[in-house]
Amino acid sequence: MRTIDDVRNIMRDFMRRLENNGADPEKVRLAVAKVGRLMALRVIEWRLHGPPKRCTACAIHEEEPEYHQAFGSGNPSAEVALIGQGLGATEGEYGLPFVGIAGTLLTMMLEDAGLPRESVYLDNIVKCRPKDNRAPAREEALKCMELYLADQLMVIKPRVIVALGAAAVRALAKDPTSVPGSITKMRGSWFTAAVRGMEFPAVATYHPAYVVRKHGEDFQKAYAEMVSDLRAAAEKVAQLKAAREAAIYAALRGRAAG
Ligand code: URA
Repeated sequence: MRTIDDVRNIMRDFMRRLENNGADPEKVRLAVAKVGRLMALRVIEWRLHGPPKRCTACAIHEEEPEYHQAFGSGNPSAEVALIGQGLGATEGEYGLPFVGIAGTLLTMMLEDAGLPRESVYLDNIVKCRPKDNRAPAREEALKCMELYLADQLMVIKPRVIVALGAAAVRALAKDPTSVPGSITKMRGSWFTAAVRGMEFPAVATYHPAYVVRKHGEDFQKAYAEMVSDLRAAAEKVAQLKAAREAAIYAALRGRAAG
């Protein structure tokens, strides 16, 4: 069982690595503090009743049996839901989505985009850690989405989805054949996400693990592109809300006049 000291050491390591990539140390500190708190609370929670039992509905759970699975986490009334493909190693150790180095970087980017981590919902196509971070096969993705993500989205009702990386875009797209092959081509573009008949406007962006692998100018460029995609999601929410309000006022005016 991990301890709070383990969390502290992991966070120190993330801090050092992100600063080496060229990230702003002040922003790194804030993100590390937020992610570290989530992990420390998880350690305390599992001290009480241990990790939850694992889902065995498909074969992915057998691939990395030492890792836990993770349900989504964040604001249950979020207007923006961010969806990745499956768990990384740190996520599998703590049973939480996006708490590894990529998730810490994503936390920084969300802050920069005016969408603080606690305001959004973070989740994955599959709740397990597929072997060596492989992308889930389409049948695996569809099965897990039907079992969990569809119900989660029905409850949360986000206005906008952000698909993190090509595998998430392909799993969510209403028309997967319309999706270009590489994430560098598709990032920043909007598509319709369809999950069990529910449709959501969705924007494609990089997976934060892609940005973590960059350094110096390349890192700054990919970071800025991803923040701009996240900002586009926030702007889309504002536009959708304004359009809805305008429609409600128009209907009320029509009723008053009639
Ligand atoms: N990568 C993902 O796609 N999801 C996570 O939760 C962490 C890393």
